[in-house]
Amino acid sequence: MTLIPGDGIGPEVAEATMRAVEATGVAIEWERVEAGVTALEEYGELLPGEVFASLEYSHVGLKGPTTTPVGGGHQSINVALRKKLGLYTNFRPVRMLPGLKTRFHDVPVNLAIFRENTEDLYSGLEHEVIPGVVESLKIITQHASMRIARAAFEYAKREGRCKVAAIHKANIMKMSDGLFLQCCREVAAHFPAIEYSELIVDNACMQLVMRPQAFDLLVLPNLYGDIISDLAAGLVGGLGIVPGANLGDHCAIFEAVHGTAPDIAGKELANPTALMQSAVLMLAHLGEREASARLQSALEHTYAEGEHLTSDVGGSASTGEFTEAVIRNIR
Ligand code: NAI
Repeated sequence: MTLIPGDGIGPEVAEATMRAVEATGVAIEWERVEAGVTALEEYGELLPGEVFASLEYSHVGLKGPTTTPVGGGHQSINVALRKKLGLYTNFRPVRMLPGLKTRFHDVPVNLAIFRENTEDLYSGLEHEVIPGVVESLKIITQHASMRIARAAFEYAKREGRCKVAAIHKANIMKMSDGLFLQCCREVAAHFPAIEYSELIVDNACMQLVMRPQAFDLLVLPNLYGDIISDLAAGLVGGLGIVPGANLGDHCAIFEAVHGTAPDIAGKELANPTALMQSAVLMLAHLGEREASARLQSALEHTYAEGEHLTSDVGGSASTGEFTEAVIRNIR
């Protein structure tokens, strides 16, 4: 198994997650490789070749967040990994944890977000047309739109989700988002038992805050998926909670929605729940259903007790104290 600890709070939450995974009793041999600013300092590269070498062999990775320096000539590490490894689906389940007092704690939020992961404005195609005018190319292809729509509907069918909403801005971007919608409609037609709807992204933001319980599964192009994921995280207690999976046909990388959180790095304040819940998804993907269920139920138990939570979710425990509580609950 490839482990990319990453930067900022990455190594702290990765360490905590490895310990929790080990406590489930599952035998995993981790191969640790560096990416991000840590790798840049050590090897002169943000994304050294050994990261790909390891993933090509293991096919499964657990990843902490990584810094991509703003500006300059650096391509985002996440974009590079997702494109090179064909990780076209970004799946993010957003669920309320028991006992957690959030602004929406009395609303049963249970969303599945399917974000297209390889194109849109993340294609990195930007150039200066004339001085003072730059262009950024939004690429939407039928191929990528069809495969994310299929992934979303197949998941909905498998997991008993009843409603799929495609999020877009096709009233303005008639061709690009129009093509995305056309693909979603084509796939939806093969799943008549699933209720299909379409929503303009700005309206979707408002509706998600007003009545999140009305939504089930969302399928989105890359940029809207990125933004809506953080909005949805805010509904269930913040970025410390929400896990994610980057899935392709041959490889999968599990990582939290959050970034490197430089404001709290090294202070023992990071909440490892998001990466631990990503590990829950990873264990299920590996067929380790029992270990996956044990870790999830230990997390839920720890939240229901509410005594050892980190400060981002209203507690006063350190990363280590929270981790110990989860491990006790696994045992
Ligand atoms: P961020 O997600 O790192 O932080 C946003 C806010 O949420 C901060 O106040 C932070 O303290 C808090 N937060 C995030 N995760 C938390 C956790 N586990 N526990 C407690 N609080 C948590 O977003 P920001 O500040 O926009 O980005 C910082 C860096 O992270 C940037 O360099 C960005 O490029 C990178 N990033 C990397 C990602 C990845 O590798 N998957 C994803 C998003 C951002």
